[in-house]
Amino acid sequence: MSIFRTKSVERSIEDTESPEHRLRRSLSALDLTVFGVGVIVGTGIFVLTGQVARDNSGPAVALSFVVAGVVCALAALCYAEFASTVPVAGSAYTFSYATIGEFPAWIVGWDLMLELALGGAVVAVGWSGYFSELLSTLGVDLPPSLVGEHAVFNVPAAVVVLALTAVLVAGIKLSARFNLVVVTIKVAVVILVIVAGLFFVKAANYSPFIPAPQPTPAVHGLKAPLIQVLFGITPVAYGVLGVFTGAAIVFFAFIGFDVVATAAEETRRPQRDLPIGIISSLAICTVLYVAVSLVVVGMQPYYRLSRSAPLAGAFRVVGQDWLATIISFGALAGLTTVVMILMLGQSRIFFAMSRDRLLPGGLAAVHPRFGTPYRITMIIGVATALLAGLIPLSALAELVNIGTLFAFILVSIGVMILRRTRPDLPRSFRTPLVPLVPILSVLACLYLMLNLPVETWLRFLLWMAVGIVLYFAYGARHSRVEEASPVRAG
Ligand code: ALA
Repeated sequence: MSIFRTKSVERSIEDTESPEHRLRRSLSALDLTVFGVGVIVGTGIFVLTGQVARDNSGPAVALSFVVAGVVCALAALCYAEFASTVPVAGSAYTFSYATIGEFPAWIVGWDLMLELALGGAVVAVGWSGYFSELLSTLGVDLPPSLVGEHAVFNVPAAVVVLALTAVLVAGIKLSARFNLVVVTIKVAVVILVIVAGLFFVKAANYSPFIPAPQPTPAVHGLKAPLIQVLFGITPVAYGVLGVFTGAAIVFFAFIGFDVVATAAEETRRPQRDLPIGIISSLAICTVLYVAVSLVVVGMQPYYRLSRSAPLAGAFRVVGQDWLATIISFGALAGLTTVVMILMLGQSRIFFAMSRDRLLPGGLAAVHPRFGTPYRITMIIGVATALLAGLIPLSALAELVNIGTLFAFILVSIGVMILRRTRPDLPRSFRTPLVPLVPILSVLACLYLMLNLPVETWLRFLLWMAVGIVLYFAYGARHSRVEEASPVRAG
């Protein structure tokens, strides 16, 4: 079937050189690492830590971060090999095109909208929450119709998305500079939490470190995790299983290291620098997360942590309001780059897809002065702003997780395929222990996916069904690879 036609690695790389589709190469390994940290550290650590400690893991939330970090490390090793072999803008989309085939590649590209555009909108809504909280400490209260879950139109979320779109259009180097400033603030705040928090840690709060398992009232219907429905498992809170359930939720905190691979065509020495950027940003964030979560659960009994702002909350409880305000400010600044880089990743993936004509080719035009795919970036910016403004998105956050995990699985499978089909390709980074590491990566991601609710699976399948229809209605007919091979799909 020609819907499984692949696009050779050589052709993918050749396309990056065509003058009208050439992006500006200006990023170094350090820029990429900073990009990674810029997109990874966000809602996950600033919000989910408290929720997961309370509901799932207790003080062992730090172990949940370790487990999620290990799952991501397995996937990151696969991404690193691919990115060093196929340094082309589309990340998982391009990797799938080179290995599994065009239709699966389209599916991944479509799927990644859940991680990137939807993820960007979800984090923008979170940003507007912090924003209005900070404004209200200054005595300015925004009307509920303009901000929060029940807003008619969430104005701050939409405005921040549009402002960040302008930065993205203006150039990758400017985006990188803006990111560097914000990441410095964000990491400084995280280190502040760790260092200042240590003074308020009480050993008693760590015991028991893994609270005894307790059955939770079974969640029924569409809200139940798929694994529970399939295997009749009763959910428990805490205990060792609780640590694993917690890992499925804090996975969100790690989303983003894979976005580094989408900047492949803007990297000066992609073969060498992409693996460094992917792996070091993930490693740095894992260390920060484990340290922060250990400190926060030491400052306050886990069952009293704040659900919406656990880091700032822990400092308010010990009477350090000014530190709490600094932390909220850091979180606000930090979330801006998460939104920005998720949109950046989205634009580079659409760029690659439209260069391949799976989306209209005119979209891939690069701005003559800024060297960015400005049309696509603006379309994504407006769409994300509307999404963030109109829809209360907290319910859709788990869709972001499932979409990302699905892409991780395909990339891990792709590494094994490419080793067989193209053993000759130069690989400046090789995933260790192939096929063991990719297989473990697939299983670990699948396990986390199974822990997501049935309704998330249904939404995911519905989204994919729309994607399949669009592929046959448009992409399959316009593909450039199709032009090259006259055999048409039946
Ligand atoms: N990892 C990013 C966050 O935690 C998406 O906000």
